[in-house]
Amino acid sequence: MRIAVTRRIPDAGLALLAEAAEVVVWPKSLPPNREELIGLTAGADGLLTLLTERVDGELLDAVPTVRAVSNMAVGYDNIDVEAATTRGVVVCITPDVLTETTADFTFALLLAVARRVKPAADAVLRGEWKTWEPLGFLGQDVYGSTLGIIGMGRIGQAVARRARGFAMTILYTDQAPRPEIENEVGARFVGIDQLLRESDVVSLHVPLTRETRKMIGAEQLRMMKRSAILINTARGGVIDTEALADALESGTIWAAGLDVTDPEPLPADHRLLRLPNVLVTPHIASASEVTRTRMARLAAENLLAALRGERPPRSINWEAVRGHAQS
Ligand code: GLV
Repeated sequence: MRIAVTRRIPDAGLALLAEAAEVVVWPKSLPPNREELIGLTAGADGLLTLLTERVDGELLDAVPTVRAVSNMAVGYDNIDVEAATTRGVVVCITPDVLTETTADFTFALLLAVARRVKPAADAVLRGEWKTWEPLGFLGQDVYGSTLGIIGMGRIGQAVARRARGFAMTILYTDQAPRPEIENEVGARFVGIDQLLRESDVVSLHVPLTRETRKMIGAEQLRMMKRSAILINTARGGVIDTEALADALESGTIWAAGLDVTDPEPLPADHRLLRLPNVLVTPHIASASEVTRTRMARLAAENLLAALRGERPPRSINWEAVRGHAQS
């Protein structure tokens, strides 16, 4: 069996793969381009990808030996699942193992933005800490404020549980109310407009799909409070970047914390990065040592199971592929 891996991943995952297959790993830190990816994957039975690789019908047609693609991520907007299913290719992802780590980071961003941690620490580095200033770096209180969660899936719920410790009022919106979790996490279902109008912090936890692309645009930003903070640890494409930059520049909202951007990576000269009320991190919400190891191991287990013809622990089209094969 031959497996292609599109970047060096934690050793635990590579070791699992190496027990069962010949493994080729893309050696560079930047992603392979399309031609390089096809070259790396030629003749492989399985492909382990990251969210930086676009997997579509064209790629799968170029590497027809591939029977399974395992994405080391919970999000899979980089994969055309329908194209994979119709070609009999199993697609797997790594949910659950990163939920708590991502929720921790959502709070890290939220607290850092609300309390202006980055500009304050930068001022210290520049030697500007001369005295205790009654008016220096005034931020927004998180404790007791209202949090609006857009997308109450696994990560949204984990964020809500943390918010209870900060005595936050929690509003959420989703495709439908989720009464089974409302009591547990102490959240109230509202429509998106009400959520945007009433929240002090709006946090995004939806996948990137046709429906959610640019769901936060100029109109939605205008509904938010002028003191509001927008946090995105989901996917950059959920926000209209230019509309957000306008809103932050003009004071339509107070600040934003973005772990994901559109485009991604954000060019160093992008206008968003010149704004004092934006904190951008390089898509690191799941980046703890333990969690990245778990993600690598789960991605490897998924791939090996699929290649053995067994149900992978976390596949999104296993049944559909089998149904397709039988029809
Ligand atoms: C990271 O963004 C992931 O989807 O796992």
